Amino acid sequence: MYSVETFDLTRKFKDVTAVNKINIKIEQGEIFGLLGPNGAGKTTLISMLCTLLQPTDGTAKVNGFDIITEKDKVRKSIGIVFQDPSLDNRLTAMENLQLHAGLYGVPKNERQKRINEVLELVSLTDKANVLVKNYSGGMKRRLEIARGLIHFPKILFLDEPTLGLDPQTREHIWDYIKTLAQHENITIIITTHYMEEADALCDRVAIIDNGEIKILDSPKKLKDKLKGDTIVLETKVDQKTLSKLKSVKSVKSIKQTDGKLYVNISNAEKNAVKILSIVKNVKSLSIRKPTLGDVFIHYTGKEFRDETNNGNPNKRFLVNRI
Ligand SMILES: Nc1ncnc2c1ncn2[C@@H]1O[C@H](COP(=O)(O)OP(=O)(O)OP(=O)(O)O)[C@@H](O)[C@H]1O
Ligand SMILES: [Mg+2]
Repeated sequence: MYSVETFDLTRKFKDVTAVNKINIKIEQGEIFGLLGPNGAGKTTLISMLCTLLQPTDGTAKVNGFDIITEKDKVRKSIGIVFQDPSLDNRLTAMENLQLHAGLYGVPKNERQKRINEVLELVSLTDKANVLVKNYSGGMKRRLEIARGLIHFPKILFLDEPTLGLDPQTREHIWDYIKTLAQHENITIIITTHYMEEADALCDRVAIIDNGEIKILDSPKKLKDKLKGDTIVLETKVDQKTLSKLKSVKSVKSIKQTDGKLYVNISNAEKNAVKILSIVKNVKSLSIRKPTLGDVFIHYTGKEFRDETNNGNPNKRFLVNRI
């Protein structure tokens, strides 16, 4: 049995098709990533899988239960950490977890042990009796993850779980997510716009845009498929130079952002000299293999510019490729 299997799953909002006939199969124990630009349909897709939103067409099975006719069974078998926080700020972390454990029917004799376990996992043991209103954003997010796990769900849905967290906390949470997936044989379905997060965490990644899956594979295979190298030049060039570069045969694509020029090219070691004969005033040069970010740009024509505003959700935005 698959953890998730969708059948032409579709959701329309008036004239917007947020999710368009999606068919995916997610294996048990997988960490599955959904990557897509703003408005791609990620939240709509997982909201349907969590039974929070009714499909307008098609359906899906989650842990073997139908999301339309077996909503309650689906809900009991999943944990959810969504984009909008939903903790009770007037209670302590411990009280929030006790409340949730009760609501989800965790047996009384197991409750405290499980609460301690999940608090430990997100390093909040010593803050268990602090009111949530006095928590930082990062601490709240960690507590929400702990809460999503309290009832031993078979699938954990995480919608942008590390958005707004500092890089160190993010990596801490990745470790924790990995451990969780291995030890509890839990399936994790995660949406993220951090490419390095998807790369580090996910067994498979689906790139979604305009409600459709553009490509689905392991991060390694996706990167391998792109072939070639990326030359990163610290410089700024005008339109004329860009046109010249584009006409070079080995150049596949070019992107200019934040004072850097990214040239995707075959056989970079050999062809770098040609590029340098066209581009002037280069402050630095490096050659690297394609990243998941390059894959994303390739399939969506867009990029998430998050290198310069680490962890600040308010500054998250898209830049179009030149
Ligand atoms: N309740 C709604 N009413 C009308 N349109 C909606 C609603 N929810 C989502 N949409 C539209 O559906 C599309 C997909 O939105 P969705 O929130 O699923 O995207 P997303 O990939 O999660 O984006 P983000 O990265 O910004 O979270 C967008 O065009 C959005 O405007
Ligand atoms: Mg979303």
